Amino acid sequence: MQALKIQNVEKSFGAIKVLKGINIEIEPGQFLILVGPSGCGKSTLLNMIAGLETVSKGDIVIGDRTVTHLDPKDRDIAMVFQSYALYPNMTVSQNISFGLDIAKMPKPEQKVVVDRVAKMLQIEPLLNRKPKALSGGQRQRVAMGRALARDPSIYLFDEPLSNLDAKLRVEMRSEIKELHQREKTTIVYVTHDQIEAMTLADVIAVMKDGEVQQFGTPQEIYDNPENQFIAGFMGSPSMNFVPCELSKSDDGYELLMESAGKVTRLLVNQDIPGLAQYVGRSVVLGVRPEQITQVSEDKPDSMVMPCAVEIVEPTGPDTMVTIRLNGVKTVCRVHPTAICSPGEPMFLQFDVTKAVFFDPETELRIR
Ligand SMILES: Nc1ncnc2c1ncn2[C@@H]1O[C@H](COP(=O)(O)OP(=O)(O)OP(=O)(O)O)[C@@H](O)[C@H]1O
Ligand SMILES: [Mg+2]
Repeated sequence: MQALKIQNVEKSFGAIKVLKGINIEIEPGQFLILVGPSGCGKSTLLNMIAGLETVSKGDIVIGDRTVTHLDPKDRDIAMVFQSYALYPNMTVSQNISFGLDIAKMPKPEQKVVVDRVAKMLQIEPLLNRKPKALSGGQRQRVAMGRALARDPSIYLFDEPLSNLDAKLRVEMRSEIKELHQREKTTIVYVTHDQIEAMTLADVIAVMKDGEVQQFGTPQEIYDNPENQFIAGFMGSPSMNFVPCELSKSDDGYELLMESAGKVTRLLVNQDIPGLAQYVGRSVVLGVRPEQITQVSEDKPDSMVMPCAVEIVEPTGPDTMVTIRLNGVKTVCRVHPTAICSPGEPMFLQFDVTKAVFFDPETELRIR
């Protein structure tokens, strides 16, 4: 049985259709991430699952119940919002048990739940404090605790980490991941942060303009993007998109690549039937920074070419080097000990085995 099924769901605000037929299905215990740029409809979809927004068309099924027109309180969900407003006059303990109080759970039982949740989130020493005496991360944990006190069939999170500073965000991200591994809860989590999506999700729905562009595991989406938008959205630094002319070679195809005034022919060592119709035309080569690495000298290899270095950015574990290929700035991830400086040439090796190709007009993947 599925934990959640979203069937042909549409949403219009007046004449504007913001969700255009969404279909998603997840199993119990799965961590689903809805990711996409601002305004693509993530929160609207989450709010519809929660029952905070009406559904214009289609159905939402939680477990074996169609909940499309049910009240939020009857859906067996718990939600953590982006602005996790805690009640300022209540202690942490009272904030966590507030929903239980409303549901008229007896006090001794409430205490058991609060203790369990506080232990899970490691906030036991904070239970008697008021929110103003907590750090941002601690407040976030209390907001999470309020949801976890409920034990629903699905947790809904809308950008729960976006108010935290970078370091705390990374810490809380691991804690959420650990919590999910331990408790095996079903989670739908909205973010516009592709790193959060890659690190947390079992499955990702990449959204754009009210549509799901691709649904799959993080690795599937990273390795096998359906189109140029997804390829560019997932991964940091982004995939490089280099327009190049495709020609036929003896045993496959070649790409004409120019850098620093020198043209090199790179061999395409993959079997992509769709490329046949692009011979003599332009294609967009999608190559990730980690697929371009430095080699010490000009080895007689069809995958090595001299490139002019424009920018060098050390990050610690690796160094990002910007070169220019066919007139386009291209980022390569090289070893921190690589010898490179702006204006100097360096020999780079291209791993085209994982490269992807796109149609320059439609931006769709060539397969
Ligand atoms: N009540 C409303 N009335 C009219 N339009 C709305 C309403 N709520 C949202 N929208 C529009 O629907 C679209 C989707 O909004 P939504 O809040 O779902 O985006 P989002 O993906 O969550 O974006 P963000 O990452 O910025 O939070 C936007 O264009 C927004 O302006
Ligand atoms: Mg939103």
